[in-house]
Amino acid sequence: MLHPLLENAEQLLLNATEQCSSITTLDALENFRIQFLGRKGHLITLSETFNALPTEEKKIVGSRFQEIKKALENLHANKKKSLESIKPENKNHIDFSEIEAQKNHPGKLHAYTQVIERIENIFIPMGYTKFEGPEVEDEFHNFDALNVPTNHPARDMHDTLWVNNTKQLLRTHTSSVQIRALEEHGIPIAGFAPGRVFRHEAVDATHDIMFMQCEGIFIDKGINLSNLLGTAKHFLSSFFETKDLDIRIRPGFFPFVEPGLEIDMRCVFCKTGCSVCKKTTWIEVFPCGMIHPNVLKACNIDPEIYSGFAFGFGLSRIVMLYHGIDDIRHLSTGKIGFLKQF
Ligand code: PHE
Repeated sequence: MLHPLLENAEQLLLNATEQCSSITTLDALENFRIQFLGRKGHLITLSETFNALPTEEKKIVGSRFQEIKKALENLHANKKKSLESIKPENKNHIDFSEIEAQKNHPGKLHAYTQVIERIENIFIPMGYTKFEGPEVEDEFHNFDALNVPTNHPARDMHDTLWVNNTKQLLRTHTSSVQIRALEEHGIPIAGFAPGRVFRHEAVDATHDIMFMQCEGIFIDKGINLSNLLGTAKHFLSSFFETKDLDIRIRPGFFPFVEPGLEIDMRCVFCKTGCSVCKKTTWIEVFPCGMIHPNVLKACNIDPEIYSGFAFGFGLSRIVMLYHGIDDIRHLSTGKIGFLKQF
C-alpha cells in the first residue's frame, strides 16, 4: 500500500506538472510558485505532515518524499530558466532546444488485468478456453439452470440486484457463464471465465457491491474429484509461485455442485495467525465441486455418461492476496497513486 502522505505528494506533483506545463508568463509562474512552494503553499503543508510522522514511517516514505520535493522545485526552476531565456526581442523566436520536455506518464495495465493475464497463462496451456457472458443476466442462467429454483432458500445466499423491476438481474456470480458456455459450445468442455459480479452487500474493506470472480468448468467422460483437486493444486501453486503448497479441503454447500468443497490455502502473510486469515493461518481461496446432475440435465447433458467439475474463486480476493492489498474498495476507485504501484 502506498502511504497516504506519498499518495498526496504524488498527486501534488502530477497536478503541479500539469499546471506548470501550460504556464507561459513569469507572472503566472510566480502565482504557481506561491501556490505550490510558497510559505503557505501545498508543499509546506505536506512537509508539516511529514515532520509529524513517527520516525519509522519517516524512514519508509522519506526518500521518495524528498525526491518529490526536489522535483517540484526543479519544475519551477526549469520553467523560470526557460521563460527568462525568451528575450523581448526574440519572443517570436523560441529556442525549443532550451525547453524541457514534458514528463511522460505512460499508462499501465490495471492490477485486475495483470492478474487475469496470469490466470490465462495457467489455464490456456492446460487446454482451457476463455469464456465471457453478460453482466446483466436472466434468472435462468444465474439461478434456475444452476439448480437454484425459484423460492429456494439458496437464492437468499446471494443478495441480488434487480434491473428496474424486470426479470433481469446483475449476475451474482460467474457461474452463469458455465451455462452460457455449455449452451454455445456443448461438451466436452474445459473453460474459464473471469468477470465482474454484483451483490447488494454492505460495503467494507472485504466486501464491495461489485467484485470479480473467475469461474472454471471441465466436463467430459470420467472426470472425477481427483481431476478437480489436481487442477486446484496446479492453479494455486502456479499462481502463488510456491512449490510446497499447503492446502486443506472442507465440505462446502453450493446448490450447483455435489459434493461441494472449499479449498483453503495456508496464509501467505503469516505463520501464526493474522488479521487476513482471522488468526486461523488458513485462507479460503477455491470454492468448487463436482457439477450437480441437475445442472447437466438443464443443459441437455446425460449425467450417466458425462461428469465434470466447476470452481468459482474470488478474483478480487486473489488480487488482494497476491499484492497484499488490504481494502477491496481500492481496486475500483481508479486512483492513480494506488494503481501505479502494480
Ligand atoms: N458461484 C459460487 C459463489 O459465487 C462459487 C462456486 C462456483 C462454487 C463453482 C462451486 C463451484 O459463491
